[in-house]
Amino acid sequence: MTRLSVNINKVALIRNARGGNLPNLRQVAIDCEEFGAEGITVHPRPDERHIRYSDIPVLKEVVKTEFNIEGYPNEKFIDLIIKNKPHQVTLVPDPPGVLTSSEGWDIPNNFEFLKELLKRFKNEGVRTSLFLDANPDLVKWAKDVGTDRIELYTGDYAHSYESDKEKAIESHIICSKLAQKLGLGLNAGHDLNLDNLRFYANQLIDLQEVSIGHALISDALYYGLQNTIGMYSRLLKKIN
Ligand code: PXP
Repeated sequence: MTRLSVNINKVALIRNARGGNLPNLRQVAIDCEEFGAEGITVHPRPDERHIRYSDIPVLKEVVKTEFNIEGYPNEKFIDLIIKNKPHQVTLVPDPPGVLTSSEGWDIPNNFEFLKELLKRFKNEGVRTSLFLDANPDLVKWAKDVGTDRIELYTGDYAHSYESDKEKAIESHIICSKLAQKLGLGLNAGHDLNLDNLRFYANQLIDLQEVSIGHALISDALYYGLQNTIGMYSRLLKKIN
């Protein structure tokens, strides 16, 4: 079964809009788990426009399932991971100030940096994942650089899903087979939603986790958080 990790960045964005503590991020994380989420993901960015660095220890204390922190590994981020030791760190190559992450790592050009960093996190007992475009060459590089898992960037898949879903998913299936063969764990995320999630999760081999934020929190405005998490969770149940 693929685990659903709910990315709560957008909840923090609403909170920050008024400077107070509404909605209460800590309570939302507790409730997401209560409603069936099997992980909580946050993506702190240097401008702290949604998740703040100070949110991390609070969330670490309450998340019972799996706490995944993703982001660009600058010094502040690295310190944050070492201090708080989430279950998983997902390294994302997004420069400061971008609106959202829209591509995976160029591993060959960052090989030594990533290798040392992955080793450091592993020594701290934190599982590692690298955000990657669905390219089989990069999956091989990911194995060589020493990550535990990869997270396939699904933005391209999501954008092409309507026009040709079979073609959109082709490279992702190839990467999932290769990851399984190489013994790499497999996550995925970005722009997954109620329309495109089931097809994706059903086609990939051994998809361990999806992290979903923007669409899920937007759907929650209409269906409520509890119903929405239930809807996404049901889409992840295998149908043969
Ligand atoms: N995975 C990574 C690495 C991301 O940066 C994001 C966005 O913060 C997501 C998954 C979730 O994407 P979305 O908000 O589109 O569901």
